[in-house]
Amino acid sequence: MAGRINDDDVKAVRDAVPIDAVVSEYLQLRNAGGGNLKGLCPFHDEKSPSFQVSPSKGLFHCFGCQEGGDTIAFVMKIDHLTFSETVERLAATAGITLRYEEGGYNPSHQRGERIRLVEAHKIAAQFYIEQLENGPEAETGRKFLAERGFDQAAAQHFSVGYSPQGWDHLTRFLRGKGFSDKELILSGLSQDGRRGPIDRFRGRLMWPIRDISGDVVGFGARKLYESDNGPKYLNTPETGIYKKSQMLYGIDLAKKEIAKTSRAVVVEGYTDVMACHLAGVTTAIATCGTAFGGDHIKILRRLLMDNATAEVIFTFDGDAAGQKAALRAFEDDQKFAAETSIAITPGGMDPCELRLAEGDDAVEKLVETRTPLFEFAIRHSVMRHNLETPAGRRLQVVAHHAVADRELEERG
Ligand code: CTP
Ligand code: MN
Repeated sequence: MAGRINDDDVKAVRDAVPIDAVVSEYLQLRNAGGGNLKGLCPFHDEKSPSFQVSPSKGLFHCFGCQEGGDTIAFVMKIDHLTFSETVERLAATAGITLRYEEGGYNPSHQRGERIRLVEAHKIAAQFYIEQLENGPEAETGRKFLAERGFDQAAAQHFSVGYSPQGWDHLTRFLRGKGFSDKELILSGLSQDGRRGPIDRFRGRLMWPIRDISGDVVGFGARKLYESDNGPKYLNTPETGIYKKSQMLYGIDLAKKEIAKTSRAVVVEGYTDVMACHLAGVTTAIATCGTAFGGDHIKILRRLLMDNATAEVIFTFDGDAAGQKAALRAFEDDQKFAAETSIAITPGGMDPCELRLAEGDDAVEKLVETRTPLFEFAIRHSVMRHNLETPAGRRLQVVAHHAVADRELEERG
């Protein structure tokens, strides 16, 4: 996706943003003498500072883990962004307008469009938040959240909002902020009505969906009223900035912890991500109305960096559909260098329901009591056979041997 940014502009960005200012946003820097600064390295665990920053050279280096580079390299590594994402982010803080080389498949008008659509989403997210906090009509939404164990602080942490009923509250608000009807349609926030654009999301609880860099690029919207004959969850359609096969809800909040612990927990819904994070499972993420697929794996791989000890844990409720989903995930197992495990919730509850019924500890325990997917798949296929028959019993013996072999193999 990366378009080629003009080299001079990259240089201008590098020169414009002082490295010590950027690094200071993430860790505390102290004087190290000789014009250098030092602090605790954010890339590995340490007790005494071996992480050095040279403002005059615009470079950082860690004498403990040997990470080093310029401002762009630092932001790429700490925020898990690509080169162009990083340059764009830094350019925005420095007020530099980037030029893109022609011939790339990301012409400048598309870049300009991205900035506009992201801006519209930022304003929309804030609009929905204010509705949830203050709108009298949003009482239904506040009640819904409370019933699922989410207080106001939880709603704020996840920027949950409310889209008012009526046809075009947000559409009119965004028009007032200078957005054209064409931009509103392209953003997916509005849709064509009989007399011009109307709000896509009306009378729903709104979960902003952020990309890995933290920009809101879409919404997941939960139905609240009987009179709403739309689906239970309505998501942003495919747009220039929202590709559902690549979206992982919660990735912006979870990415640091996923990278640090080399572990990711995949759950099914927005409320499940919230419940997990609140229960201390801060590596939880969810797909947005699609199955977990190859594009999601690529994103996780960027964070797990194919670490030999990396692990991806899928949680499913115990029903047949959940088990089927688990087995489908197994088909993708080979694409993962990471170890894949699955955790089945008791009583067919999802993590949100489990937290409500049994508390935070139960959610943490769920993740701890996981089964390697390989073993689960074998057991599952065995369970389908009648163990009263000799053939069924033989299959069970074979399955146990397979699991044991695999364990031996792993121990090397
Ligand atoms: N989903 C969807 N479209 C639907 C139903 C579900 O996109 N019509 C997705 C949503 O991302 C949702 C997830 O599947 O978060 C899980 O759905 P479900 O388990 O039905 O909802 P819950 O998250 O449990 O939410 P609730 O508490 O509202 O039932
Ligand atoms: Mn659910």
